[in-house]
Amino acid sequence: MFIPEHVAIIMDGNGRWAKKKFLPRTFGHKQGVKTAKKIIIAANNFGIKNLTLYAFSTENWKRPKKEINVLLLLLNKFIKEELIELNKLNIKLKVFGDISKFNNNIIKDIEFACNTTSKNKGLKLNIALNYGGRQELVHVFEKMLILNIKKPTEKIVSSLLYTKGQPDPDLLIRTSGEFRLSNFLLWQLAYSEIYVTKKLWPDFTERDLKNAMIKFRERKRRFGSCS
Ligand code: FPP
Repeated sequence: MFIPEHVAIIMDGNGRWAKKKFLPRTFGHKQGVKTAKKIIIAANNFGIKNLTLYAFSTENWKRPKKEINVLLLLLNKFIKEELIELNKLNIKLKVFGDISKFNNNIIKDIEFACNTTSKNKGLKLNIALNYGGRQELVHVFEKMLILNIKKPTEKIVSSLLYTKGQPDPDLLIRTSGEFRLSNFLLWQLAYSEIYVTKKLWPDFTERDLKNAMIKFRERKRRFGSCS
């Protein structure tokens, strides 16, 4: 099977999953973390080289404080508890986004996990946390001013993004049936194939990831040409 080099996922539908079961939204997020873990392992087994998961957007601060706290707690718990396993699997963890807004303990745990796995040569696992595509581009413009770059090129922009050194996603998967980018990797997704499934994120399985890759293989990618 043809394996995409980089898969990006908008993990949507945790809240609806919980609502359908008459449970609080936070139960959906808890289940969402379990699904994320399964999909990371599946991606690694499939031989995907780069996996980017959209876990917390710059817009998610608009949610009720209680939900934000639970989400951040779950993400922190995941990073702490799964570090040994990630390291064992040779996975290199990177965080995309402005983590300076988080509390010091979370920042320390994230930095520790990224440093511990930094030499790993297996799957590059990027978790987008307090990430926004527009915010990322604004940071690039700021960096270009600081570096006194007078003639920007696509190559220069790419080298200043969080995805520096990684290929653009070949495949973007979005769960829960919504056809939106939601401010995710706006530059990098320019030529990505998009796969939307109605499945809610907590119900997404390794089989669904495989189905998305099969559909991806059937696409004819022209990158703007006409052949
Ligand atoms: C959207 O569901 C999902 C999020 C806001 C991201 C949360 C993702 C996780 C908790 C998975 C954790 C990932 C890792 C890497 C450990 P929603 O609340 O918007 O659902 P809704 O649209 O049904 O309300």
